[in-house]
Amino acid sequence: MNEQLDTLLSETRRFPPPPAFAARAAATETLYHAGRDPQKFWEEQARSLDWMSPWTEVLVWKPPHARWFTGGKLNAAANCLDRHLAGYRKNKPAIIWEGEPGDQRVLTYAELAREVGRCANALKSLGIRRHDRVAIYLPMIPEAAIAMLACARIGAVHSVVFGGFSAESLRDRINDAQAVAVITADGGYRRGQLLPLKRFADEAIAETPSIKHCIVVRRGREAAVSLQGDRDHWWHELLERASPNCEAEAMDAEDLLFILYTSGTTGKPKGIVHTTGGYLTQVAATTRYVFDLRDDDVFWCTADVGWVTGHSYVVYGPLANGATVVMYEGAPDWPERDRFWSIVGRYGVTILYTAPTAIRAFMKWGTAHPARHDLSTLRLLGTVGEPINPEAWIWYREQIGGGRCPIVDTWWQTETGGIMITPLPGVTTTKPGSATVPFPGISAELVDASGRALERGGGFLTLTEPWPGMLRTIYGDDERYQQTYWSRFPGRYFAGDGAKLDDEGYWWILGRVDDVLNVAGHRIGTMEVESALVDHPSVAEAAVVGKTHELKGQALAAFVTLKEGKQISPSLKDDLKEHVVRKIGAIARPDDIIFSADLPKTRSGKIMRRLLKDIAEGRALGDTTTLADPAVVNRLKEMYEDKES
Ligand code: WT7
Repeated sequence: MNEQLDTLLSETRRFPPPPAFAARAAATETLYHAGRDPQKFWEEQARSLDWMSPWTEVLVWKPPHARWFTGGKLNAAANCLDRHLAGYRKNKPAIIWEGEPGDQRVLTYAELAREVGRCANALKSLGIRRHDRVAIYLPMIPEAAIAMLACARIGAVHSVVFGGFSAESLRDRINDAQAVAVITADGGYRRGQLLPLKRFADEAIAETPSIKHCIVVRRGREAAVSLQGDRDHWWHELLERASPNCEAEAMDAEDLLFILYTSGTTGKPKGIVHTTGGYLTQVAATTRYVFDLRDDDVFWCTADVGWVTGHSYVVYGPLANGATVVMYEGAPDWPERDRFWSIVGRYGVTILYTAPTAIRAFMKWGTAHPARHDLSTLRLLGTVGEPINPEAWIWYREQIGGGRCPIVDTWWQTETGGIMITPLPGVTTTKPGSATVPFPGISAELVDASGRALERGGGFLTLTEPWPGMLRTIYGDDERYQQTYWSRFPGRYFAGDGAKLDDEGYWWILGRVDDVLNVAGHRIGTMEVESALVDHPSVAEAAVVGKTHELKGQALAAFVTLKEGKQISPSLKDDLKEHVVRKIGAIARPDDIIFSADLPKTRSGKIMRRLLKDIAEGRALGDTTTLADPAVVNRLKEMYEDKES
């Protein structure tokens, strides 16, 4: 972290907004002034949504519980669809979709509204009602957005589970939310392979008593699926029978819009709860101002809808603004490493929002791929998910943005719902590697380990005032909500990130300081992977740490001790990796597995992950004097170095 800090401290390049961009930007300096009165500012933003009844109070704040726009009624799907149908946007493309095999679909706002209406009626015909939870386990196909909006339309709560998660992960999320239905597909394409989602869903549903219905989208023609009696339904058959007209439910501003599971510091993912009015207000406002959205933009956020970025900036934010979004199903290197640039060129993408891990991969693949395509329509670039190293930032700016597009490096979290720290592209001078300053109406403060506010230097990122898109609780576990976010620094929301404030008050986010890792922009709890490993019949104990990885930011290194009498067979490493994939999903596959007779522990028996991290990073060991047996860690270090050679 110190090395990282030093590099950042020496970054002197400055990029003021290009004058032509600033001249027509949606957000000007006045937005920062307006943000000084957060409640007034957010109330103003909320007014740009369609409300069925007005709110009586902007904010009720009983720390750590916030309620925004109380008494107000609205429907998120109506805000994303109905209000665009009156005028010319009716026939404007809402979703331009491309499947990995190359199939395409364009849905205008009118068409999307009809599909959402049909799906909403189909859900109702199965008895699904307001407040019921519906799990969505789909590839990146238009039906994912349609299903989310259909839930919102009838007041059901969606819980999207990333299609890369395993059957067990899906099962646990369904059970935690007590979902009554799951919407899945026969499969989804990834690097030419059809991922058999329905098969995983079947495995999950075998252990989810709350599920009454399973709706299956037909995506992969060759995928053989078995539909089971009364439980399973083809999406296309249900929707064929359903009317496209479905009245939108008037939802309370504080009614749940969705639950989204994310990793924490324990083995059990947390169901992050987002509500309707505040969330939609924040994602709509940030989309408009951070991405400088205009009516003729073609907006491409490359995230999967299985992550919060997909919820907020593929679906709700852009559609609430009547934008055209691009949605792509597959891998960036399929069939060639120029797939993204070919999409940008063919659809005339104007705004591109992606992750640093992807940018680092593109850098490695070389400039010939983007150079082959016309990227001249791009006018704004964004990044999210992890710190971006200045080198990647500059490459993105030059090779993708042609040196003319501002870059918005946006810091936020599943928990924050929407963007929190970011430049305003027509206003803020950017510095490569810095997310710059809080969005108007957002109050962030740096604190030291004892919780004292710091003006400058390194410390912990906290939020001091409630914001409309904030998580309301952890589903079914408010105790854990208070404990996780509000107890480390009383009176403050602690994001889990280390950060630095420079002399101009710019934020440099350094990454997680808890037991959460960020692998290729995805959050993974070390404890989750450890529990998956110890679930294997040969494993006695496991400790997982992150190690710096050139492309992924971090990779997983697992230190494993075997049970008495278990042998290290040649295939055991691969077995263990596959076991983790089966338990969690491919994103959690450890890069390294190191077997050891023992793990370094304190005299009280606590595994010293700090030392394991030193080993994984290949650096000198820190203080080992508190170890019960210092020899253990030296043996491990030697073994690790052998593995590397
Ligand atoms: C964690 C949240 C928010 C959507 C994607 C990830 C890291 C996120 C940045 C950024 C440095 C960032 C933080 C944060 N992070 N954006 N611009 N610069 N770090 O959502 O899975 O909830 O992860 O991602 O560590 O805490 P998430």
